[in-house]
Amino acid sequence: MRQVRSVSRRQFLTAVGHTAGSNAMLRAAAVLGAGAGAAACDESTVDPFGHSPRPEDWPGDVGRGRTVAILGAGLAGMSAALELTRLGFECTLLEAREAAGGRTRTLRAGDVASEFDAEQTCAFDADPRLYFNAGPSRIPHHHELLLGYCREFGVPLETFTNDNRAARLHDPRQFGGAPQIARRLRADFRGQVAALLATAIDRGALDQELTAADRARLVGALGSFGDLDASARFGGSERAGFPGQDRAGSRERGTSLDPRPLSSWLDDGFWMARVAFTEGLDQQSTMLQPVGGMDQIAKAFQTQIEPSLTLGAVITALRKRSEGVTVEYEQAGAARELQADFGLVTLPAPVLAGLTTDFSAEARREIGGFQYTSAVRIAFQAPRFWERNHNIYGGISWTNQAITQIWYPNHDFGAEQGVVLGAYSFGGAAGDGLTAQPPPQRLTTAVNQASAVHPEFATEASRGISVAWKNVPFQRGGWGVSTPDVLLQPDDRYYFAGEHLSRLQGWQEGAILSAYRAVDGIVSAVSS
Ligand code: PHE
Repeated sequence: MRQVRSVSRRQFLTAVGHTAGSNAMLRAAAVLGAGAGAAACDESTVDPFGHSPRPEDWPGDVGRGRTVAILGAGLAGMSAALELTRLGFECTLLEAREAAGGRTRTLRAGDVASEFDAEQTCAFDADPRLYFNAGPSRIPHHHELLLGYCREFGVPLETFTNDNRAARLHDPRQFGGAPQIARRLRADFRGQVAALLATAIDRGALDQELTAADRARLVGALGSFGDLDASARFGGSERAGFPGQDRAGSRERGTSLDPRPLSSWLDDGFWMARVAFTEGLDQQSTMLQPVGGMDQIAKAFQTQIEPSLTLGAVITALRKRSEGVTVEYEQAGAARELQADFGLVTLPAPVLAGLTTDFSAEARREIGGFQYTSAVRIAFQAPRFWERNHNIYGGISWTNQAITQIWYPNHDFGAEQGVVLGAYSFGGAAGDGLTAQPPPQRLTTAVNQASAVHPEFATEASRGISVAWKNVPFQRGGWGVSTPDVLLQPDDRYYFAGEHLSRLQGWQEGAILSAYRAVDGIVSAVSS
């Protein structure tokens, strides 16, 4: 029987921390689990999320005659339903809302965004190109389970521009509050750091560390890295752009910009941290998005699992019985009950915490304490001033204000209108603060703050709509940020899944990974 073995918290954190080696770890754990035996396995190499199961390794028809109640029709619930059904299990997927997808939601003209204390109706023009992803928006190119389903279901993809060198970085306290162009910061910073290192080498500071041949070669490489001159100095680079480049129409191409002193980019870590964002493994180019909105993926999943799906089913209690589960729920005002051999719980922990359950005390404690980020997005319709006036096509500008990010649409370039995000904040005071504002106030905040980056926000952005994940019923949070432990194991016949129980928290791929782990557990349970 294949089993996820429990590891200590320290080992767990060590393993999670070493994400670079995670694939190797997964492979090692899979090999050991399949052959060599657990005794030979060094605990520190055990992947706390279980090895990475592949659907093709699951024995076909293993689920014949068995039933599974799956709670929540987000990406975790739907991918589990699909794979379990393929294995012969009879699945019932209960979803509280009237549409599947969970936090994967896309808003268009006329759609209603409900929060606990507010309701907003999307007032964009009725045009399929004008949409707002009020949930997941970008897909890393190596999230291959999700991308595999896109291929299988025929969901067309296009490029999501995460890193745009023409986008802005803005700190109200520096450069007189003037937004800076990303390419200039990159060129200046790299050039000056490279020149400093070349100087250090020249002065013999690295003679201990490097051979003479490597010192010479490194100086050569630094020349390319930082665009240094023949004597390894940095006097500015064409990479930084040209005067007037912040507005379309400058005729000064070919005139160089003086490098800003390195100290001006060092103030509080804001500048380099924002630029480094797209160095993260999950934020690197190439990123992708479905053509027409992220919900195209959820809709394709929904079509696949339609026969198992019950919408409008609000779960009230999760009971254990000998050899099975009883799920109590309400549908159209009537109390109902579902019995199954297994339960697969994909509800976000803050939603689950509000239900009556027979779970163990440890499971309930972890559910009750599980932290979620408070993410907020604020979207506007506007004529594409960022393209017309500033040569910005997709990508992200960053500001050291609560709104944090401005996102430009990554599709339909050149159209007259577009949907632009005037804020995407998550976590900390920014996310909490915007969450606490009523929706109309969020719009005012976004227009005021975004105007410091693009004054056009004040005059051209309209029809705003926002989402504060923590205030959305059946969501109650952006994504999980606590470290899971107990919930990685089944509680009798209940298995748990959801992005918060994966090594990829806050990603649809994580939801699928966690679903695979749960499916693997159920397959093991019926095979033993
Ligand atoms: N995947 C989401 C995003 O790209 C949320 C997330 C942010 C997850 C940062 C992890 C880290 O914005």
